[in-house]
Amino acid sequence: MHPAGERPISVGVAGATGYAGVELTRALSRHPHTRLRIAMGSSDRPSAASPRLNRIWDGEIEPFSVAALADADAVFLALPEAAAAEIVPPLLDRQVRVFDLSGAFRLRDAEARARWYPATPTDVAESAVYGLPEHYRDELRSARLVSCPGCYPTAALIALRPLVKAGLIDGHIIIDAKSGISGAGKAASERTHFSECHGSVAAYGVMNHRHGQEIEQELDRPVTFVPHLVPLDRGILETIYATVAPSVDESSIANTLGSAYQDAPFVRLTGRRLPEIKHVAFTNFCDVGWVLDIDTRRLVMVAVIDNLLKGAAGQAIQSFNVAYGFDETAGIE
Ligand SMILES: NC(=O)c1ccc[n+]([C@@H]2O[C@H](COP(=O)([O-])OP(=O)(O)OC[C@H]3O[C@@H](n4cnc5c(N)ncnc54)[C@H](OP(=O)(O)O)[C@@H]3O)[C@@H](O)[C@H]2O)c1
Repeated sequence: MHPAGERPISVGVAGATGYAGVELTRALSRHPHTRLRIAMGSSDRPSAASPRLNRIWDGEIEPFSVAALADADAVFLALPEAAAAEIVPPLLDRQVRVFDLSGAFRLRDAEARARWYPATPTDVAESAVYGLPEHYRDELRSARLVSCPGCYPTAALIALRPLVKAGLIDGHIIIDAKSGISGAGKAASERTHFSECHGSVAAYGVMNHRHGQEIEQELDRPVTFVPHLVPLDRGILETIYATVAPSVDESSIANTLGSAYQDAPFVRLTGRRLPEIKHVAFTNFCDVGWVLDIDTRRLVMVAVIDNLLKGAAGQAIQSFNVAYGFDETAGIE
C-alpha cells in the first residue's frame, strides 16, 4: 500500500479535451494518491478547461508536449491510436509508466496489429500488459505500459472469459453489442452526428471491427461480434448468445462467475435480473446477468458498462491503482 505521508504520484493526461480525457481529468484531480501535474489537448496554445470541470479542477489545458508529459511519474493517454503509438516509446525511455486508452498496443499478434494498428512499434507492443484488472491483476503490478481494453471487449470479456476458460461454453458465441455515440469520440462524422443517430439504430463493422479481433484474442476462439450505434450519449449493452456444454447448469454458471469475481469490486453479477445501461451509467461497474434454458443448453447473457468509465477512463485508473498498490477503487468509487 501507499505509505501514509509519502508524496502523491504525479500524473499527466494527454487528450484531456476529449471525452475520455475529461473523465480522466475529473477523477485524477480528486484521486487521494495523485497530483494532476499536467493536462493537454492537441493545440500548441494553452486553453481553458471544459466548463464541466469548474470547481473540480482549476487548471489550464496546456499545449501538447511529450517532454512536459515525461516529467510526470505516470501518464494517461486518451489520444487517437497513431498519436499514442508515436509517443509511448519516448515516454517509456524516460521511465514514465504509461496507461494508454487507445487500441495501439492491445493486439499481441503482429499480423493482426499491423492490420488494425499499423503505426504501432512491434518491440514496444510486446511489453504491454492488457489492462483488464479483473483478469490481469498480477501482471499489472509490474507493468510499465498498460494497454487498456476497448469498451466493447471490456463488457464481453467480463461476461464470457471465466466461462470460456472453465470450458463451460460449447460451440459458437454471438455478441450483439449496442453503444452510445460517445464511444466514437467527440468529433462528429456523418455516422455520428445528431440528425443521423437520433431516432435510428444501425449495425456497423460487421465481421470487420478491430474490437472483434481483440475479443477473439482474449477468449482464444472465434466469435461473431456485431456492434450497433444507438441514440444514447453513453453506455454499452451487449447481449451474448452461446450454447453451454452438456451437464452445465445454473449453478455451474453462477459458481464460475462468482468465484472469478469474488474479489472484483466493480463486477456485479445480477443473475436472472438482467442489467440495463442506466444501472451503470456514470459508474465504473460492469453488471452481468444471464438466463440459461437448461433443456436446449442455450445461454443468453447481458453485460452493461459506461463506455467512458469502465470502458475507458475508470478502467485505466483502476489499472493504475492496481499497478501502484492502491485500493482498486481509489478515486473511482
Ligand atoms: N470514447 C470511448 O468510449 C472510448 C472507450 C475506450 C477507449 N477509447 C480510446 O481512447 C482514446 C480517446 O478517445 P475519446 O473518445 O476521448 O477521443 P476524443 O473525444 O476524440 O478526444 C481525443 C483527444 O485527443 C487529442 N488529440 C487528437 N489528436 C492529437 C494529436 N495528434 N496529438 C495530441 N493530442 C491529440 C484531442 O485534442 P483536441 O481536443 O485539442 O483536438 C482530444 O483531447 C481513443 O484512442 C479511443 O479509441 C475511447
